[in-house]
Amino acid sequence: MSEALFQDVIRKRRSVRKFEPGRSVERDVLKRIVDCGRWAPSGANVQCFDFIVIDEPGLRERVMDVFLGQAQRLVDHARGFPAVKKTYLANTAAIIIVVGDPRWKVCFPQPTSKGWEAEYLDNNEVIFLNSIGAAIQNIQLGVAAEGLTSAWLSGGGEPVTNKELSELLGYPQWMRAYGTIPIGYPAATQNRRYRRPLVQALHWNGYQPTQYRSHAQVDFYESTLRPFAMYRDEESMESWDDRAEKLGEWEAAFTTGTSNPPGELEPEADFSKPRTTGQATKRRLKD
Ligand SMILES: Cc1cc2nc3c(=O)[nH]c(=O)nc-3n(C[C@H](O)[C@H](O)[C@H](O)COP(=O)(O)O)c2cc1C
Repeated sequence: MSEALFQDVIRKRRSVRKFEPGRSVERDVLKRIVDCGRWAPSGANVQCFDFIVIDEPGLRERVMDVFLGQAQRLVDHARGFPAVKKTYLANTAAIIIVVGDPRWKVCFPQPTSKGWEAEYLDNNEVIFLNSIGAAIQNIQLGVAAEGLTSAWLSGGGEPVTNKELSELLGYPQWMRAYGTIPIGYPAATQNRRYRRPLVQALHWNGYQPTQYRSHAQVDFYESTLRPFAMYRDEESMESWDDRAEKLGEWEAAFTTGTSNPPGELEPEADFSKPRTTGQATKRRLKD
């Protein structure tokens, strides 16, 4: 395959959440797509994933019902996150669920003394999740190469949703649906979504502190910018007509190669929870 073709597939891979209704995809195509997942790299080559393909319309409806519940739980209990309605799943030609099997973590490095647990237990989890992520990514690329489109839903792996999916699809509940990939023919534009400029993300021969994104910048993205960065069909925020309004003082930080002109780094902060006020925070606090 030529470099240009490969780059094209990379860029065509998009999260599309609107599909043409009434279309189907042949099993041979679905097999080729799943085979892309099978060829993903995995830690210790354990291949800690299985691929459940749902192409039977009745079952697809039942899977959609599970995701409608999942989406409602997000609205009710994870307020502020810009989730979209999952009714679009009705128009998928197939849904692939990537199930992760945690038993295989035993094959990754294990601490042999208490003192090294912090070093290796976390590392073990990282290897497991990255392996599954690689499989999901390969599948999405395979979908794009077939001229179809998909989304990458992490929703499905939460305990309540996973229980419902495992009962519906028959896999053990201790396995987890880490990725759900609805597949279909795009009914919406496939323009690219926002990406940081390359000059900002690429560091030559060491981390460049002027490209560091400050705690306040992360806060701003979470509290205010996130829905636009997620759902607008523009690769660059510079193309936004309302960029001055939406980005304000953060315009240079998001559009140029210098997000942190002073070049000073900050000490670690607790980012386990959102911290500032903004649109997302207001939505979260609303009763
Ligand atoms: C780990 C991971 C989890 C994601 N979870 C969801 C999800 O639950 N629902 C969804 O609609 N999109 C989900 N996405 C898709 C992202 O929102 C999307 O990749 C991002 O906004 C960039 O858009 P693009 O994929 O069209 O370039 C997820 C992506 C990744 C990598």
